[in-house]
Amino acid sequence: MRTVTIIPTYNERVSLPLTLGRLRDAVPDSDVLVVDDNSPDGTGKLADDIAAQDAAVHVLHRQGKEGLGAAYIAGFRWALERGYEVLVEMDADGSHRPEELPALLEAVKDAHLVIGSRWVPGGSVVNWPAHRKLLSRAGSLYSRTMLGLPVRDITAGYRAFRSETLRSIDLGSIESVGYGFQVDMTFRVASQGMRIVEVPITFVEREYGDSKMSGNIVFEAMANVTRWGLSARLAAIQRAFQRRSNANVK
Ligand code: GDD
Ligand code: MN
Repeated sequence: MRTVTIIPTYNERVSLPLTLGRLRDAVPDSDVLVVDDNSPDGTGKLADDIAAQDAAVHVLHRQGKEGLGAAYIAGFRWALERGYEVLVEMDADGSHRPEELPALLEAVKDAHLVIGSRWVPGGSVVNWPAHRKLLSRAGSLYSRTMLGLPVRDITAGYRAFRSETLRSIDLGSIESVGYGFQVDMTFRVASQGMRIVEVPITFVEREYGDSKMSGNIVFEAMANVTRWGLSARLAAIQRAFQRRSNANVK
């Protein structure tokens, strides 16, 4: 299946070439799209230089830092317009090991969405401080409970989508800016009754550069999950009342 791996970047000058090299070795059949938000450290220019040497590598330049969600949506649109059948999400910093991509691609033959999961048996995290582990597990637990989803690693950023899955979602209506985008996508795919499979991965914390995770990103995700969870419950209650009043009329 025609595959493209989408890599969003913001100040990943040191990590990006290492990740690209590993990805091209591990899965030479996958094209690559780097989506750079005009990184001040020149990552976009570096990506252009790599693309000039390798026809499988493409670069989408955006005006400025607009968040992970916006970068991915732009990348998805680019790839759907070009007829790719599988669209992969991967961080630039080496946390998502390209060597594990074949396992995700194998699983997506029989799923609408495959999530590379840290929190299923066989999955793990290397070199993360305790507070990041706690944040990730608590965030997944809260989202899973609020949204009523069975997924263990809801915020995970290592994923493979089939193109049909993305075509069935109104990408223009996605408002999540930060990493809550990942939860948003999981919820939408699950709401369509589509098949989500988690494959265990080893997530390795970056060696170079800095995480862009922030308090705002966490707050946005929590607020959205709460809102979505409550409106789903409200809708279920309304349906139940509707059924009762219909039954009374008969
Ligand atoms: N284009 C663009 N624009 N890229 C961005 C932006 C942005 O605004 N913000 C982050 N990125 C890119 C980074 O350059 C990196 O390639 C990737 O997105 C992930 O960012 P990190 O800052 O390294 O994320 P993390 O390691 O803290 O978070 C990881 O865990 C999250 C929670 O589970 C990632 O795997 C996230 O995807 C995941 O949601
Ligand atoms: Mn990271």
